[in-house]
Amino acid sequence: MPISPPVVVVGSIMQDLTFACGEFPARGQTVMARLAVGQGGKGSNQAIACGRTGVGTVFVGAMGRGAYAAEVAAFYRREKIGCRLALKPDQPTGTAVILLNGEGQNIIVIEPGANASLAPRDVPRALLAGAKVVLTQLESNQAATAHALRLARRAGAMTVLNPAPMRRDFELRLLRHVDILIPNESEFVALVRKLPGIRRTKFDERALHAMSRDALHALCRLIKVPTVIVTLGSRGCFLSMPDGHESIPAYRGLKVVDTTGAGDAFCGGFAAGLVRHKGRIVEAARLGTAVAALSITKPGAAPAMPTERELNRFLRKNEAA
Ligand code: ATP
Ligand code: RIB
Repeated sequence: MPISPPVVVVGSIMQDLTFACGEFPARGQTVMARLAVGQGGKGSNQAIACGRTGVGTVFVGAMGRGAYAAEVAAFYRREKIGCRLALKPDQPTGTAVILLNGEGQNIIVIEPGANASLAPRDVPRALLAGAKVVLTQLESNQAATAHALRLARRAGAMTVLNPAPMRRDFELRLLRHVDILIPNESEFVALVRKLPGIRRTKFDERALHAMSRDALHALCRLIKVPTVIVTLGSRGCFLSMPDGHESIPAYRGLKVVDTTGAGDAFCGGFAAGLVRHKGRIVEAARLGTAVAALSITKPGAAPAMPTERELNRFLRKNEAA
């Protein structure tokens, strides 16, 4: 692994406790489930999705007390993906409780734990200075995220923010350091409602679906980030770029097992695509779409990310079709 791989992912790592139940419990109801414990956290999932495509990647995050840190470090070594884990011994490692229904949909509750204590000094400057792409989310510490985006932009890297999960304390000024913003539908709605002048309107997901592509593009332009990519689940994604817009459909006919981490797979695959395709946004989003498609056909978050071999086979098969 070179000292500065092309992609640096700064963000969260969690231990995922996934309870697979046929139906989500109603309020006050108890249901039986099967429990699987796996690796998650949006930052780490994205790093693994990117690294498994064969593009050099390093993950920067924070872990708490307990043996899990050593397990994670060994996993990253086996995968040949770099990781810089700051240890926060007075904190628990982040944990996510995920309820998964029979259709592969989820409900997630997280305790960020050590992720919230990731500090700007935990993010190595030299890594950011050598990166082509720096990818961030909102699940760790916002000051560390802002620091990473600011330094990366200054060093000439392409900066990407996946504003997930959207938070009440999200600071719009973070967007000044962002080249490419990748919200899902609910994050996009929340962001638009934070924009000055739009805050009090009734913009919701239904309104988003009813919009023409031109109107959606015009709305994305108000965010004042050069490229906005809205992921739309099984509808694919919408790209709003300085010179126009484009839609990329999702793959059809997949056997959906678990959609947890589909957005992470998209972002990791997209970052890899930016490197593979020399910064070309549309080609990168196509790669993200393929990585996301494969990820939902397997259980879990990080473990479900496709390998380079699986991805290339899938791309060849779909090109031929
Ligand atoms: P999650 O929170 O489950 O990680 P998300 O809400 O952040 O996901 P989505 O917009 O649901 O992200 O999905 C990201 C991408 O994954 C989509 O743009 C699409 O390419 C792919 N995808 C998601 N769901 C499906 C599906 N049912 N069939 C095909 N592709 C899908
Ligand atoms: O995006 C999916 C991830 O969100 C899960 O792996 C879970 O850890 C939560 O952070």
